[in-house]
Amino acid sequence: MQTTTLGRTNLTVSRMGMGAGGPSRLGQRTGNTESECADILRQAFDAGVNFVDTSDTYNTEPIIGQAIQGRDRSRIVISTKKSTRRKEVTPKTIEANLHNSLRNLETDYVDIYSLHGVVPQDYDYLVSDVYATLQKAREQGKIRFIGITEMFNEDMTHITLRQGLEDDLWDVVMVGFNILNQTAREAVLQKAIQNNVGVQVMFALRKALSQPEYLKDFVAHLIQKGEIDPADVDMQNPLGFLDASTASLPDVAYRFCRDEPGVHVVLSGTGNPDHLAANVASFQRPPLPEADVQRLRHIFRNVVSTTGQSMIEGPRA
Ligand SMILES: NC(=O)c1ccc[n+]([C@@H]2O[C@H](COP(=O)([O-])OP(=O)(O)OC[C@H]3O[C@@H](n4cnc5c(N)ncnc54)[C@H](OP(=O)(O)O)[C@@H]3O)[C@@H](O)[C@H]2O)c1
Repeated sequence: MQTTTLGRTNLTVSRMGMGAGGPSRLGQRTGNTESECADILRQAFDAGVNFVDTSDTYNTEPIIGQAIQGRDRSRIVISTKKSTRRKEVTPKTIEANLHNSLRNLETDYVDIYSLHGVVPQDYDYLVSDVYATLQKAREQGKIRFIGITEMFNEDMTHITLRQGLEDDLWDVVMVGFNILNQTAREAVLQKAIQNNVGVQVMFALRKALSQPEYLKDFVAHLIQKGEIDPADVDMQNPLGFLDASTASLPDVAYRFCRDEPGVHVVLSGTGNPDHLAANVASFQRPPLPEADVQRLRHIFRNVVSTTGQSMIEGPRA
């Protein structure tokens, strides 16, 4: 497994990170027992993945706590978060939450503690009233680095992270980026490179990037919306031009994100051991041919209205 340095944190991290949230939650959503979920994580650790992302709301912190038992904690990078969307967040709730996270994770520090899913309208309050509590927790050694994650499906122009990078208060950001929606390249990744900020990518694999039939419908939908030029794609086989060595749609989706400048860790969530093995193999493959990367950049260059999950996306009322 390739590793890299997570920006200014200097943490050594695997390019593939286990996402313990998302649609799978390590398989909790598809009926895995807790012990099967922990086995998924152990399989990832054994394959060289040393990064795992969770949150107070995913119900996976205790599973991570189980899976790290007997391993060298200093080699595992744990990212957890405090949800902020429609939640009361105060210095007190942050302190209580962090305490719970540490207990659930069976550890005495987290490597990256982030404010989770920050929408633009909450950002100023969180900086003015809550950020100091994160700094205090860092001084106490309970967290090593402070991060922020966006609510990509509501904030597709990355308003929160653009502001966050301008303020330069955050060691690590988590941004939505994938083949279909590449808006983070200019809005977030360029500035993150300049500021040496660690970057985790979420949403690398979406429904339209794991199901070829859905991708066809999706591309037709985006042509209709004027976001893809029909002259650029074969509607019957939109990614048919890809190099024959490409293993699958998820394989292309992960390698495309992995090799995007500015990206350190690409999160990948699954509850399925075969998917995990396939995803690990993708992260071990060489870069996609440059001609394919350029064509993917070109086809989807104007797509701004979707994360690739559904044809109806956008801010909640
Ligand atoms: N705002 C935020 O901070 C925020 C929001 C969302 C997510 N996150 C974090 O980011 C991580 C990544 O989230 P995500 O939304 O990108 O989704 P994800 O958790 O990576 O889920 C990927 C989905 O694709 C499926 N899948 C995985 N590998 C596959 C393969 N090889 N072939 C076919 N299907 C495959 C999985 O189902 P199977 O179980 O069937 O494999 C799952 O449904 C999350 O786990 C979470 O840690 C953060």
